[in-house]
This record gives sequence, C-alpha cells and structure tokens, in this order.
Amino acid sequence: MAKKIMIICGSPRENGNTLTICNWVSSGATEAGAAVELIRADQISLKERGCVACMGCQSSDKFACVIKDDISSVTARFPEQEVLVFASPVYFMGFSAQIKCIIDRMYSLFKITRDGKGITHPLQYTRFALIATAAGSYDHGLNLLEDNMKAISSFFGKEYSTLLVPHAPVKVGSIITDTELLEKSLAFGRELAS
Ligand SMILES: Cc1cc2nc3c(=O)[nH]c(=O)nc-3n(C[C@H](O)[C@H](O)[C@H](O)COP(=O)(O)O)c2cc1C
Repeated sequence: MAKKIMIICGSPRENGNTLTICNWVSSGATEAGAAVELIRADQISLKERGCVACMGCQSSDKFACVIKDDISSVTARFPEQEVLVFASPVYFMGFSAQIKCIIDRMYSLFKITRDGKGITHPLQYTRFALIATAAGSYDHGLNLLEDNMKAISSFFGKEYSTLLVPHAPVKVGSIITDTELLEKSLAFGRELAS
C-alpha cells in the first residue's frame, strides 16, 4: 500500500518559497509511490485563534481536541499518516502563526501516564519531517525551527528529517529557477516515501 504522507504548509503566500518547495517535495514523493496530501494551514478555518488551554483534551480519554473545527479534523487524521511534514517560513525566528496554531492543537494527541513519567499517544506509525525556508542564514531562525522539531519529535519518541532552505528572499518567485533546490526537494520527497 502507498505510504501516506501529509504535508502541512504554513506559508500564507500563493507561489511563495515554502509552498513551491512543498509542491516539489510532494512531486518527488508521489513519483516514488507515496500518497501525498498537501494541506494549506492558511486555508483551514478555525474557531479559536489557537489552543485555548481548556485542557479538555487531557481530561478526556480520547486523543482529540475538544474544539470542533477544521484543525481538529486535520489533527484527528495525524495517526493515519506515516510521515507528517510541517512546512513553514521563518517568521521572526519562529514558525508562522498559521502552522503554530496546528502544532499547539497537537497537545490533544498525547496523555501523560498516571505515574507522570511518560506519555501515551496514537502516533505509533508516524514520523515527522520539517521543511523550513528563511531569507537569512541557518542562524537566523532555521536553527530554532529545527530545535523545535527535534524537541517535538523527541517528546513523541520519533525520528525526524529536515529540508532547511536558507537565503530564500521574501520576493515571490525568488527560488523558482533554482534547479539545485528543485533536485534537492525532489530527492527529499523520494526519501520521505522510502
Ligand atoms: C513577517 C516576516 C518575518 C520574517 N522573519 C524572518 C526571520 O526571522 N529570519 C529569516 O531568515 N527570514 C525571515 N523572513 C523571511 C522569510 O522567512 C523567507 O523569505 C521565506 O522564504 C518566505 O517564505 P514564503 O515565500 O513561503 O512566504 C521573514 C519574513 C516575513 C514576511
């Protein structure tokens, strides 16, 4: 059966760097036989601007967010994915707000064990990946997104892989003719599918 890969793109820009790379990665993975779903975080409708810290998810026995909107429908399908790819431009040294809204709602996908020493979660078959673009060099925020991804993956006991793209200017279309990056992205997609 085809490997299921969900790519969530956190850039609000049509034809922006991040979405361009997501499309390239998706092509590489699809050509390698994966079933890829690309979701645009900026187009997901949400009831709240982010997690409201109601802790409803932690007091329920379900791995589900109690806010019922399109984000909870998307996070509910995370356990079906073999690879979950978070894609974001660096915004002021962090993730874009669009993707952060989704990452925070993943709080509903674990429970702290009774002894308080560990967690249980439904992501047994899922591994993580990060695609991140930035205008600056690695130290201008890509490092922090990578650290964040590393910490989230480690929290869930997961492996992760990254495609980090520095020197991607804000001007729309700035990377579109970069054939080396295209090849790198296609290869990253193939690797995710393998
Ligand atoms: C609000 C805003 C904040 C940004 N902050 C950073 C930053 O902290 N570090 C950096 O290297 N680039 C920063 N950038 C540049 C973008 O991360 C970069 O150009 C990215 O590739 C844009 O992605 P997009 O085309 O998908 O929107 C920022 C851009 C915007 C619009």
